[in-house]
Amino acid sequence: MQKTPHIEVDQEGIIAKTVLLPGDPLRAKFIAENYLSDVIQFNKVRNMFGYTGTYKGKRVSVMGSGMGMPSIGIYSYELIHFYGVKNLIRVGSCGSMQEHVKVRDVVIGLSASTNSNYASQYQLSGTFAPTASWELVKKAVTVAEQKNIPVKVGNILSSDIFYNADTEAWKKWAAMGVLAVEMEAAALYMNAAKAGVNALCILTVSDSLVSHEETTSEEREKSFTQMMEIALELAE
Ligand code: HPA
Repeated sequence: MQKTPHIEVDQEGIIAKTVLLPGDPLRAKFIAENYLSDVIQFNKVRNMFGYTGTYKGKRVSVMGSGMGMPSIGIYSYELIHFYGVKNLIRVGSCGSMQEHVKVRDVVIGLSASTNSNYASQYQLSGTFAPTASWELVKKAVTVAEQKNIPVKVGNILSSDIFYNADTEAWKKWAAMGVLAVEMEAAALYMNAAKAGVNALCILTVSDSLVSHEETTSEEREKSFTQMMEIALELAE
C-alpha cells in the first residue's frame, strides 16, 4: 500500500473503518487526547493531523478535514478509496438560519443543499440531493434520545462562501426550511454516495444568522461534548 498525496499511511489497518472529521486538525488532536485511548498519530502532512485510538473497545480514527468542500473532498476521497474507510462522520459547527435553531443546539444534517458546483463532475441530467446515510442518521438519533440530547434533524446548507457579498442570500435558503449553514457536508455526502459508503454530519450551532447571537467558549464546550457523545457511539 502506498501513501497518498495528503495522507502518509502506507500500511493496511492503521486507519479505522470509522473516521470522525472535525474541520480543525487541532480539534482532531483534542478529540484523540480527550476521548480515545491507545492513540497513535497517523498523519501530519500539511498539519492535517490524524489519529487512531479506541473508544469503548472500538477502534475509531479522527482526522482534520480542513475548511470547505474542496478540502473535505480530498481527504474523504482518499480515506474511502485508498484506506477503505466505511463510515465518515463530520463533527463541526454551523450558523443557524432558523429562529427555532438556537446557539448550542446539535444539528444532524439529513441532507445537504449546496451552492457549490461539486456535483457537476457526475454529469447528471438534473440536480443531485446529497443525503446522509440513513443507518447513521437512525443510530445518531437513537443515541441522542437515549442520552437525552435534543437534536434538530433536517436539511443544511453547504456553502462555498463564508463572507458572502450578498448578505441576504441565506434568507432564501432559510425560506426553504434549511436549518443551518456550514461548508463541507455536501461534498462528503456526494463522495460517500458515489463510493457506496456511509456519511453523516453532526454540528453544533456556533452562531445565529437570525439573532446574531454567538456562543461563549464555555457554551461551545458543552455542546461540543454532546455532539462528541453522539458521534463516538457510531463507531462499529
Ligand atoms: N457560515 C458558514 N459556516 C459556518 C458558519 C457560518 O455562518 N458558522 C459556523 N460555520
